Amino acid sequence: MRLLLPGYEGNMNVKYLRRIKLVEEPAMGYWESKIYAPLLPGGKAYQFYLLQEVKSFITQPSPGLSVKGPGLYEISGIAYSGAGRITKVLVSADGGKSWGEAALSEPVLSKAFTRFRMPWRWDGGPAVLQSRAWDDAGNAQPTRTEFVAARGQLKAAPPVAAVLNQHFNAVTSWGSRARGGQACLRIASTSRPLGLALCLVAGAALADGPGLGKPLNEADIAAWDISIQPDGKGLPPGGGTAAQGARIFAEKCAPCHGPEGKGGVTGVTAAPLPPLVGGDPITDISAAMKRIANFWPYSTTVFDYTRRAMPWQQPMTLANDEVYALTAYILALNKLIGENDTMNAQTLPKVRMPNRDGFIVRFPDAM
Ligand code: HEC
Repeated sequence: MRLLLPGYEGNMNVKYLRRIKLVEEPAMGYWESKIYAPLLPGGKAYQFYLLQEVKSFITQPSPGLSVKGPGLYEISGIAYSGAGRITKVLVSADGGKSWGEAALSEPVLSKAFTRFRMPWRWDGGPAVLQSRAWDDAGNAQPTRTEFVAARGQLKAAPPVAAVLNQHFNAVTSWGSRARGGQACLRIASTSRPLGLALCLVAGAALADGPGLGKPLNEADIAAWDISIQPDGKGLPPGGGTAAQGARIFAEKCAPCHGPEGKGGVTGVTAAPLPPLVGGDPITDISAAMKRIANFWPYSTTVFDYTRRAMPWQQPMTLANDEVYALTAYILALNKLIGENDTMNAQTLPKVRMPNRDGFIVRFPDAM
């Protein structure tokens, strides 16, 4: 069984759906807290940025599909919007100075890829191809200038494979250049920040059918029902202090996260892991600025994430007391609680994170 979330990015559409837990408010796990929260200029961040906004891009001509000298060509591409149906696509061959309306190939459906086409007579001279789309909710695909004004711009070009700042939907440009008598197309002005989709959520393949209607017993449910709400709902019994956490951390966490969570360990992942402590005031839209203390909105996420995901190679092996102690240790290192404070189901949700109000819900109507 598959989960389809129309308008959301592809990786949210879980391929092998095995279970659904309904909660009354956002779960505020790691992904809601840190990842789907792109930074904006000025230090605030969008929250729950899951919908794909109106976008179009040219697929032909494109690199690898070179055009061989002056003549008549078809410019073609894809437009879509997570908010509705595509109503119009304009195409330019002179970098946005003049535009013509493209034909839309049927069917033109809500929240679906829509092919657009436009004849183009190329005289062999310089050309910059662009497309721009509109949807029936009244949204226009932003120009690059509009996008940068609203969302900011990274200071340096990031690595190609990095996940940068989500959901770049501005107009992209393709330029032509002559090479050895043949004209080729290349990317003229790159689209930074650029979003890459990763497969983040996927269940295991089902060996023997979907198992629909098979009753689950309480123990089965309890084993995966481990999400913690920001108000503390779901926190298990137990507790721990920073001093207890320090001992566990030195043994089970420091090999990757460095002594006292200072980071700097190389070789674990392609890029060194971010420190678990500190974090400068946010002055840039680079996702690398995000730390627990300067970004995460809820303290409960530290418990939730550590319990379900850490240590990285042995997830779900920590006892609840250990997770409380480690959470206390990380919060104390960040001076968010006192060194002798005990973290438990009552005290942890009361720890107020400094950036609690640093978010703007991106699509309140879609919540
Ligand atoms: C084998 C290496 C390894 C070990 C051991 C390990 N971690 Fe991690 N930890 C990682 C990696 C890798 C990430 C980043 C994961 C990602 O980005 O998806 C991470 C991320 C985290 C984060 C989120 C940090 C952030 O700012 O996003 C926390 C909190 C954390 N680990 C706590 C712990 C604790 C507590 C322990 C000890 C119980 C531990 N880790 C042990 C590799 C490790």
